[in-house]
Amino acid sequence: MTAVLQFDVRKNRCPRVCDSGRLVCYAPVFRWLLFPQDVQMQPVLDFLNARQQTALDELCQFLRIPSISADSAYKPQMNECAEWVRASMTAAGLTATIYPTDGHPIVYGERLRDPSLPTVLVYGHYDVQPPDPLNLWTSPAFEPQVREGKLFARGATDDKGQLFTHLKSIEAWVKVNGELPVNVKVLIEGEEECGGVHLDHFLETHRDLLKADVAVVSDTSQYGDGIPAITCGLRGIVAAEVRLKGPSKDLHSGIYGGSIANPVNALTRMCGTLVGADGRVQIPGFYDDVDDLTPAERAQYAKLPFTEASFLKEVGSSATFGEAGWSTLERRTARPTCDINGIFGGYTGEGPKTIIPSKATAKITCRLVPRMNPHKVLDQLEAYLKSQCPAGIEFEFKRFHGCEAFVFDPTSDWLVAAGRAVETAFGQPPVLVREGGSIPVVLSLKQILGLNTLLLGWGRNTDNLHSPDEHIHLQDFHRGTLASACLWKELATVPRG
Ligand code: BES
Ligand code: MN
Ligand code: MN
Repeated sequence: MTAVLQFDVRKNRCPRVCDSGRLVCYAPVFRWLLFPQDVQMQPVLDFLNARQQTALDELCQFLRIPSISADSAYKPQMNECAEWVRASMTAAGLTATIYPTDGHPIVYGERLRDPSLPTVLVYGHYDVQPPDPLNLWTSPAFEPQVREGKLFARGATDDKGQLFTHLKSIEAWVKVNGELPVNVKVLIEGEEECGGVHLDHFLETHRDLLKADVAVVSDTSQYGDGIPAITCGLRGIVAAEVRLKGPSKDLHSGIYGGSIANPVNALTRMCGTLVGADGRVQIPGFYDDVDDLTPAERAQYAKLPFTEASFLKEVGSSATFGEAGWSTLERRTARPTCDINGIFGGYTGEGPKTIIPSKATAKITCRLVPRMNPHKVLDQLEAYLKSQCPAGIEFEFKRFHGCEAFVFDPTSDWLVAAGRAVETAFGQPPVLVREGGSIPVVLSLKQILGLNTLLLGWGRNTDNLHSPDEHIHLQDFHRGTLASACLWKELATVPRG
């Protein structure tokens, strides 16, 4: 049976939407004989097409809850949001439970049909970034508004809008066909944006509950407008904070200047040498374990549509900058970086103030590529900064979250099957890309549960993630829902093991 299915999958043609708009399926006949209801794909798509407004209205309810995980003042709203997700899972036909943690609750739902079918674990996060700076939003962050075909609200694309596509497609399958063609498990957490530690503990203590064949995460982006992507690599990350302490209080810079080290001077000098004028990170040993792109990968990169001018327009800059010898796309997604995220100390009010400040702080992150070890990079960063710290300054180095980079085998059957689903919904096959951002759970799913993750992003990098006026294109939300509906059917055809 396995052999036959494998043969079928390989020979299988992509389902396509033909000119009449109807979906023509070429799924393996054997699966149809076993589960005849699974051929009912078109009615599921019809159902979703007819209920776009309902899905949008429900998403707006979801977006109205300010689930800001980083701010403890929003604890009640985090609980309210978890409850909303649980109710929405139940409405979709899942058996859903809230698992309280020492941080924010985890919501888990499942619909298990037959152990012989593949089991898919869907992950998403219901927490959002703080909406600040509030004055730069055209409409309030937690009052969703549609303008020019886009839905504006914090979390619209990262990640409420994207994760909700899966709940809607599950609901459609259950309502139309009574069942899904795969077993689904859905895990929605509330600590992704604040580097929470409780999800890993949950994965470690619920291995049986979460047992699956493959994971699906919609928390990345399309490659470009209308060019869908499957992300087969993510950069890792380490985050740290350096705190320098000089004199016990701010001092008169005329009376004392020149006689002791100034912590802001020291910090800017230390930080100023992290990245050279050639864009290379100067931390000794930083590139020791970097896996360079292979010539074949670089050839793939070169084939992707990219123009420097539209990239500059997207970021609002007049020139690109980065490590010599690599293209902008390569630097952005497959080369390691070191960035100062914030630096502060001393007087920052209006007018001059003549002091030697007592303290200075910098927040730093490095993005990592395959084979770089987060602990090693933090050790290197700490050692380098410390070696630059002058006498008389106390040096403190605080480590935050970190995770390794991730790469998915682009020839995997799961990925090929997912590609067919994306092609059906977007009208063109997805490109395979690596992304520069990080999704730590993808590493945890691999390391703790042994799962590979299909990163299927419906949104766009230009959706203002983490910025004011975050939005999702209504079209992307809808075709994401259709792609998700097709995904269950396509993944059902993949031989397991
Ligand atoms: N959804 C993003 C990550 C993302 C967005 C990856 C677009 C690729 C394309 C996620 O919510 C996020 O913001 N991740 C953080 C992780 C950090 C807080 C550990 C990031 O990348 O900064
Ligand atoms: Mn996200
Ligand atoms: Mn995010």
